Amino acid sequence: MILIKSDQEIDKMRRAGKLVADCHLLVEELIKPGISTLELDKKAEEFIRKAGAYPTFLNYQGYPKSICASINEVIVHGIPSSRILQEGDIISIDLGATLDGYVGDAARTHPVGQISKEDQKLIDVTRNSFFEGIKQARDGNKLGDISHAVQEYAEKNGFSVVRDYVGHGIGRDMHEDPPIPNYGKANHGPKLKKGMCLAIEPMINSGVYDLRVLDDGWTAVTADGKKSAHYENTITITDGEPEILTL
Ligand code: MF3
Ligand code: CO
Repeated sequence: MILIKSDQEIDKMRRAGKLVADCHLLVEELIKPGISTLELDKKAEEFIRKAGAYPTFLNYQGYPKSICASINEVIVHGIPSSRILQEGDIISIDLGATLDGYVGDAARTHPVGQISKEDQKLIDVTRNSFFEGIKQARDGNKLGDISHAVQEYAEKNGFSVVRDYVGHGIGRDMHEDPPIPNYGKANHGPKLKKGMCLAIEPMINSGVYDLRVLDDGWTAVTADGKKSAHYENTITITDGEPEILTL
């Protein structure tokens, strides 16, 4: 069941979303060669807790840290560790915060120092595919309109769309209905309505879309070892343009 949020609830979503956006800015500042992903995790957790919120990912289905830090061929759910960022890496940071009972969830992919043109293109296309998707996030459209727009844009640019992980409705719970694939058919799926809150999160690979999960049970890596990028925002459907809650 897709929940419709009241104006009062959306206000709480807005505050959780703002905290997530601010936390991303803090982490982005710290990203450079020489820092470990564990340090990024610590700083993010501290920031979220100081704001009176809880880092939503921590202990979620047993996830051991507050953020996901996914480097290079890691698609999503990279667990922060003593791994040191190196010039030329790309790193996707995914983080969530629960404030006053409501969840914000967003992901960004950043370059570490100088990166290749091809990797920068992957980051840009992934981000742009989100914005192509949300052009369709309007009351009266269908969910498949978003999915289709993301897929078409990413594939047109020579990249592949991950199938095994999808976006999701969001609210009191991080994962609510509906699942939001980044591939699919226009004019299919549930109708979008004002008051829906959605986390739209394209995961885009430079090679094949196939993946495998490492023995830690979380880390998803590309099957061909090529790089992957992730970009996500929590949005809400309005009677006009969608509102992005995590920017
Ligand atoms: N943005 C991811 C998602 O929507 C975050 C989940 S990571 C987890 O599924 F560790 F919390 F599971
Ligand atoms: Co998400």
